Amino acid sequence: MPHRAAALLLLALAVPSFAQAPAFHQTDKRLPITLTPVERNQTLYEMREFLHGFHNIHLGLANGDMRLVALTARTMAPFLDRLPESMRERTPEEFVQIAIALRESLEALARSAETSGDVQEIHGHLAEVVTYCSGCHDTFRLQATPPRARR
Ligand code: HEC
Repeated sequence: MPHRAAALLLLALAVPSFAQAPAFHQTDKRLPITLTPVERNQTLYEMREFLHGFHNIHLGLANGDMRLVALTARTMAPFLDRLPESMRERTPEEFVQIAIALRESLEALARSAETSGDVQEIHGHLAEVVTYCSGCHDTFRLQATPPRARR
């Protein structure tokens, strides 16, 4: 699996943060991605949809409903394609790469649900999926263009 190493690295970086909180500053040190307010709202909407997706996946696992698990993961996977075309030139390459890795990981999860239906294996994919969620959140933040910069 091509992104396994990256996922493990993200996971390794994520684990100690519970034990030791970073120093907080008045400024957010994450890299800003500047979007129009509409693009930002749409991106945040897609993010909230991810949480609904996680709910469905967990519900499917709890009820042994692998069709729900697979359908949800397949719907979540192409989120990059749902973002506005106008954002493409302003989203950093790394943002796109993490989004692609997330998509591949969700597709692998869907394939497991469709074939083996092995809950433990699916939880493994889910853990990998979450490393991409938090990897991106740890790196980037969104900021809307100030009113006077808008055309
Ligand atoms: C490619 C980057 C990327 C990926 C992958 C990603 N996010 Fe986000 N997400 C962001 C950014 C950037 C923000 C805005 C953070 C900020 O401005 O503080 C955000 C915000 C959010 C929010 C807040 C929404 C709101 O209305 O304020 C939620 C919830 C969220 N993400 C959930 C998820 C979940 C769950 C996943 C994984 C399934 C995920 N995200 C994957 C980039 C990403």
